[in-house]
Amino acid sequence: MTAAALPGPKSKKWHDLYPQLGTGPIPIEPYVSREYFEKERDLIFRKVWLIVARVDQLPNPDDYLVRDLPVCRTSVLIVRGKDGVIRAFHNMCAHRGNKLVPEASGTCKGLFTCKFHGWAYGTDGSLRHISDEDSFFDPDRAALALTPIAANTWQGFIFINVDPNPRESLHEYLGEWGSGFDGYRFSELGATRFGWDTELNANWKVIKDAFQEVWHIPSLHRRTIPDVFTDAADKYGHAINFTLHARHGQISLPGNYTRTPTKVESFAVRHGAGATVIKQPHAALPARINATQDPRWSIDGNAIFPNCLLYVAEQTYLTHTFWPITENRTLWEVRFYYPEAKTLAQRFSQEYAKVILRDINMEDGSTLERTQTMLASGAKREIVLQDQELLIRHHHQVAETYLSQS
Ligand code: FES
Ligand SMILES: [Fe+2]
Repeated sequence: MTAAALPGPKSKKWHDLYPQLGTGPIPIEPYVSREYFEKERDLIFRKVWLIVARVDQLPNPDDYLVRDLPVCRTSVLIVRGKDGVIRAFHNMCAHRGNKLVPEASGTCKGLFTCKFHGWAYGTDGSLRHISDEDSFFDPDRAALALTPIAANTWQGFIFINVDPNPRESLHEYLGEWGSGFDGYRFSELGATRFGWDTELNANWKVIKDAFQEVWHIPSLHRRTIPDVFTDAADKYGHAINFTLHARHGQISLPGNYTRTPTKVESFAVRHGAGATVIKQPHAALPARINATQDPRWSIDGNAIFPNCLLYVAEQTYLTHTFWPITENRTLWEVRFYYPEAKTLAQRFSQEYAKVILRDINMEDGSTLERTQTMLASGAKREIVLQDQELLIRHHHQVAETYLSQS
């Protein structure tokens, strides 16, 4: 789609491109129902590929991470082996079931030793030591190895799939969307990482939905970034492009390059912050980024089904990941990625971005808890979506394809 073919504010063009989504209201039940949440757990989260880390969190052999994933009913041990391969296992000792590694991360010196009775496992999951072995009854070492979990990587992101027999590879799961990012410097641009983990009293989709559209920004974020995506001609910051794939989707957003940043903001952005935008020529980017090569572009939001949003700008990227705990409580993980700061100005720029982004996310968080309260009130049975909320509608449609497979 070219700039000349962009939709006017009332054309409803994006839904016209995807008529299979319909335009009707969305039931509230998926946001409040314990039964629906349990179906999401069993038919989505325990079946699909999920982003859990980046490879540079495990730079060396024997480095490990533990991800407790209540929605998958397990704790996942992710470790880089001596051979450099990253593997994942259920974090469970085969003797009497202790959680093998209680620490969140570390380096293991080749062995994981269970603190209960001292059994030990290699980084390949093999059982290496049985304490008081003669007192056991012909233990089958192969059967008593750690239980593996499918793991693979895409652009340096580690994905796992707790289904013992994933129905498709990660490559197949990411599909057409997953191609077209080659050349984007995820590792280099992500050398510096910061973020927050927050538990919110809200359904995971209430939070996700808020980060799948930006037209709430002039209202909810009027004190922080009211005009980053908007200007006089486009007061709601309408998307410049949407592309929906089988499971995943993408929104491309304009930047308001005519606004006048404060002196401090201008200094920060010139030195690399991604919190706001100022005019600068765009370098050539891989095909999936700013897919329409629109000169007004500032950032893409990639909705990676089910629970991750990957926002990609020219010099920085960020992720929001939403881990359901119950139908009305969610662990919300925010990670911002920046290149290594080589000057004080660049460091200041990153600190500036942290503060702005913290304030923006605080504005979202408090609103979303209030939203959840009212969704659960029973006062209404449905919500309605407008054209800019296409990704929200897409999520519900994709989810249904999984939930109807029971
Ligand atoms: S439960 Fe791990 S050694 Fe006993
Ligand atoms: Fe927001």
